[in-house]
Amino acid sequence: MPGPVVILGVFVADTAYRAPRQPVMGETILGSGFKLGPGGKGSNQAVAAAKLEVETHFITRLGVDTFADMAMETWRDAGVSPAVIATPESYTGAAYIFIDDRTGDNAIIVSPGAAALITSRDIEARAALIRSASVFVTQLEQPVDAAIRALQIAREAGVTTVLNPAPAADLPDALYPLCDYITPNETEAEALTGRSVANVEDARAAAEILLAKGARAAIITLGERGALLHGKDQSIHFPAVSAGPVVETTGAGDAFNGGFAAALAKGFSAVEAVRFGCAVAGISVTRAGTAPSMPSLAETMSLYPGHLHGSSS
Ligand code: RIB
Ligand code: NA
Repeated sequence: MPGPVVILGVFVADTAYRAPRQPVMGETILGSGFKLGPGGKGSNQAVAAAKLEVETHFITRLGVDTFADMAMETWRDAGVSPAVIATPESYTGAAYIFIDDRTGDNAIIVSPGAAALITSRDIEARAALIRSASVFVTQLEQPVDAAIRALQIAREAGVTTVLNPAPAADLPDALYPLCDYITPNETEAEALTGRSVANVEDARAAAEILLAKGARAAIITLGERGALLHGKDQSIHFPAVSAGPVVETTGAGDAFNGGFAAALAKGFSAVEAVRFGCAVAGISVTRAGTAPSMPSLAETMSLYPGHLHGSSS
């Protein structure tokens, strides 16, 4: 039995508004739709991994309120084991998601609330769980110090580490050498490297910079152009997987990261795991919402049976 996927990150309630455009300051406009659902990058990734039938643990802080109840219910349904520190002095976070009526593009504000209070000490208290992982994943919605400490603990224990550097931020140099895989999208890759990333060749150049900074491999997700896996001995571009008409792309990166981590935990090679992550993301964009759009293992297999054959644990 391979070890579990352990994820450190943030849960928030996603409040998604559809409208023809965003209001300008001082203006009120009418929207055409609204949906409340579970979100937060780390939690979405944990839901994706658990739905792919890999043992998954999620480390975070929550307030003591109705959104915390939503988090616990979401994880119960998906099969995620929570490692939660209840934080009554704060609140469970929320995200404002604007979705453009016509294009489906989104713009997001995340207020992490209790999860913004995660400390390195919290992480040290969960060190045994992190060391038990086969794959450890984190992002940048909680404080970066907590991410660094967790990646250090994972790395020292020989756990495969994945950093999804989202949302875009300036990273301390010390973070890169702790990453087996760093997985920015185009925007985040630009923020990390100062180079524009408009096509696969640009992505390759940006990935090379991330390797020079110390990451073992970079995976740059490219939306409808798929993903690039770039390491010392291989650089492979994977086309996006289409599973039907696109409904909502919010959370596609989380679907990819959760799928990628689950596949690594199942013993897939990096190449197979990237392909698998692309299939998971491809299904998620055909459905509304973020966490609620993560596919089951059966759904993913029906789209990509060849990649699972014989490799499942
Ligand atoms: O990656 C998508 C997620 O980013 C949303 O669920 C939203 O909560 C934001 O954190
Ligand atoms: Na979706």
